Amino acid sequence: MLSQGIVTVSYIIATILFILALGGLSNQETARRGNWYGIIGMTIALLATIFGVVERHYEILFVALLIGGSLGVILARRVQMTQMPELVAVLHSLVGAAAVAVGYANFMDPGRLSHFTGVELTIHDIETYLGILIGAVTFSGSVIAFGKLSGRIGGKPLTLPGRHLFNLGLLLGAIWFGREFVLQSATGSGMEPLIIMTVIALLFGIHMVVAIGGADMPVVVSMLNSYSGWAASATGFMLGNDLLIVTGALVGSSGAILSYIMCRAMNRKFIAVIAGGFGTGGGASASSSEEDQGEVVPIDAHETAALLLEAKEVMIIPGYGMAVAQAQHTVYEITKALRAKKINVRFGIHPVAGRMPGHMNVLLAEAKIPYDIVFEMDEINENFPEIDVSIVIGANDIVNPSALTDPDSPIAGMPVLECWNGKTSVVLKRSMATGYAGVQNPLFFKDNTRMLFGDAKETLDEVLKAI
Ligand code: TAP
Repeated sequence: MLSQGIVTVSYIIATILFILALGGLSNQETARRGNWYGIIGMTIALLATIFGVVERHYEILFVALLIGGSLGVILARRVQMTQMPELVAVLHSLVGAAAVAVGYANFMDPGRLSHFTGVELTIHDIETYLGILIGAVTFSGSVIAFGKLSGRIGGKPLTLPGRHLFNLGLLLGAIWFGREFVLQSATGSGMEPLIIMTVIALLFGIHMVVAIGGADMPVVVSMLNSYSGWAASATGFMLGNDLLIVTGALVGSSGAILSYIMCRAMNRKFIAVIAGGFGTGGGASASSSEEDQGEVVPIDAHETAALLLEAKEVMIIPGYGMAVAQAQHTVYEITKALRAKKINVRFGIHPVAGRMPGHMNVLLAEAKIPYDIVFEMDEINENFPEIDVSIVIGANDIVNPSALTDPDSPIAGMPVLECWNGKTSVVLKRSMATGYAGVQNPLFFKDNTRMLFGDAKETLDEVLKAI
């Protein structure tokens, strides 16, 4: 058994490593290092807790660690990059479920009333109550988010009439039962209000996420990430574990900051996202407005290659379709070939391109595209007038001009990559189907746009051959 001093020092080291991990993850070049800091920090935290805090029942602990650890390894190995948000949602639900389980175990601990009395007991009860509340909301919300992201539940927001009143009722109910719980707990009872509150919290989590439309799901995932952090923090308070409190707070606040950044990238108000009712289902077929918008001009791989070879400035705009087609390695080869011919190739990355934050950056890094030619939307949007050819690879919503011009569009106000300001845009996709937000894209019908239909990997392979 490690001494208390060693445990405290280990916890401080782990905390510092977690902070360094977050710092590292904020930049592509340092992300790998950041990951390692996180892994080392977590290993130290686990070892210190197992050998310094746990006192008995090691056999249960090791069996649980073995089962949980193996499941984690299998899941991480199997998951496709495109399924990452779903996996993250499932993992958040586990944090929520753990907070609920720890809360109940804490409450049912026979030693509770002898350990705590008076104000201390009240504080402990409030910690337990809040931990279970946040945990239950996180759990049911994450399960619904998983359902929506994996297509098991429709993407359309379910907006019940009077839903805000319903939410308010649930909130007031949770407060009232909280008071009942604290009052009853001192006398040794209190299970009833605790169970009723858990049901209320589960309902609230479900209701909150079903009301949020497909287009807002990225924000919901990062928001649930934040909740899972607060749930872990609350668990830390219940167990009197400082490291869990700090780690939970780090996850909680970084998730909240990420939600804020994404809301800004999509020009959405955080409160409006949470209030729900926005964003339609994903991946619908072409809308009837297609005919109204005019003709699209197709192009083939050879013509695309010729356009690229004539260009001096090329901008590549990757989107979700590049991830689906796994075209990033061909994109790398094309980039290399063009750069060898002294053509300036840059990448423009929209903050919500793909299906998770940083999705495109991860794929481009995997394909070894140099970081210094990969730019954020804000950095390069003004440069489009000097671009000869923009290659839009499986992107749709993030290059939709109607976000800027049509106030009724579900993506109205979202900043987009304004490739139509360049000389020519070539859009690679398989059909005229819409993207995630389910809206048609006027870019496809512009005079200076050419459509290269087909799977992005196959068409890019042909373009590469032609180059
Ligand atoms: P989308 O608007 O979803 O468009 C992707 C396009 O790729 C589709 O129109 C599809 O058209 C095409 N595509 C699919 N598979 C393809 C393949 N194998 N080859 C070629 N094209 C293919 O993607 P986006 O422009 O990246 O925008 C992202 C959207 O997702 C935004 O609305 C965003 O709010 C939302 N979202 C983002 C996140 C985060 S955090 N990034 C998370 C969830 C949701 P075809 O079917 O015609 O091929």
